[in-house]
Amino acid sequence: MVRKSNGPSNRPDGFTGLEPRRLTMNGFRINMTAAQFDALRGLIYDRSGIHYPESRRPALESRLSRRLRDLGIPDYDRYIRSLLSPETRDIEFRELINHITVNETSFLRNPPQLEVFEHHLLPDLIRRRRPHRQLRIWSAACSTGQEPYTLAMQVHRTIGREIADWNIHILGTDISEKALAAAWLGRYAREAVRTLPPAMLEAYFIEHGDDVRVVPAIRNMVQFKTLNLKDAARVMCMEIFDVIFCRNVMIYFDDEMKERCAALLAARLADDGAMFIGHSESLRNLKVPLEAMGLPHAFAYRKVTGLGHAA
Ligand SMILES: C[S@@+](CC[C@H](N)C(=O)[O-])C[C@H]1O[C@@H](n2cnc3c(N)ncnc32)[C@H](O)[C@@H]1O
Repeated sequence: MVRKSNGPSNRPDGFTGLEPRRLTMNGFRINMTAAQFDALRGLIYDRSGIHYPESRRPALESRLSRRLRDLGIPDYDRYIRSLLSPETRDIEFRELINHITVNETSFLRNPPQLEVFEHHLLPDLIRRRRPHRQLRIWSAACSTGQEPYTLAMQVHRTIGREIADWNIHILGTDISEKALAAAWLGRYAREAVRTLPPAMLEAYFIEHGDDVRVVPAIRNMVQFKTLNLKDAARVMCMEIFDVIFCRNVMIYFDDEMKERCAALLAARLADDGAMFIGHSESLRNLKVPLEAMGLPHAFAYRKVTGLGHAA
């Protein structure tokens, strides 16, 4: 691929993205050397906790090839320099994250867990929080928003007409700004809601051209914020939540990062709160201040307080 130069660059590495470059590509893929793979996975791990074992090297190559192609950069050495340069590192890291994160999600993902949340945990929590009428729920790694919106719908139909008297804070966070931009919109392809129960579709979505939108009553219950789970200082500034969902992100972490992430989340969990992880994820054999709650058909964790279990 050859691009034309369009004047001087103001990037420290001199790269304009438009200068003539012949990309050495294998199909759409630009191959990485072992040293380049090591450098990139080290940078990614240090800043996000996302772990790339050798088996996921083709996935990284395929995703970063797209980024290199967009930039017109012919090889990874130059790209690595832009990830290290003080002037470009933060901007390019955000773009890299937008390219490499797996944002797969859906409404009502893993129904057994959500049934346990709605029918076992939530009614109990509502009873205990009734004196203050405040509920705080966090979907950490919420991707494009389907998870926190699902939780909002469940809270909405469980509390019913009293909802206006409650102070409900549902927060969705993610490291990917691109995913969060879609979450803010609350607009989805019809395909995304095709398998939802008709009553849920009827109550919580409105048609919007070829797409559907989450109704304002639900949209307004949820806020979104960028948050990197590797950033301990920022996680520790979060408020305390009654329920935390952190599903299908720890599969991308190694054991050290899983322990670190679980400890941070436990620190933001109310003593009588509950935390869900993905149904295929496990905290077994890890040193985490959480213990399984022994619920029917789904795992949830509560915090180990050292004071016995909160009621
Ligand atoms: C597969 S999605 C899971 C979405 C949702 N929780 C679910 O289960 O359907 C994984 C999300 O984790 C996010 N992620 C990866 N590393 C992260 C990190 N260090 N901090 C916060 N989010 C992260 C990705 O951007 C992605 O949107």
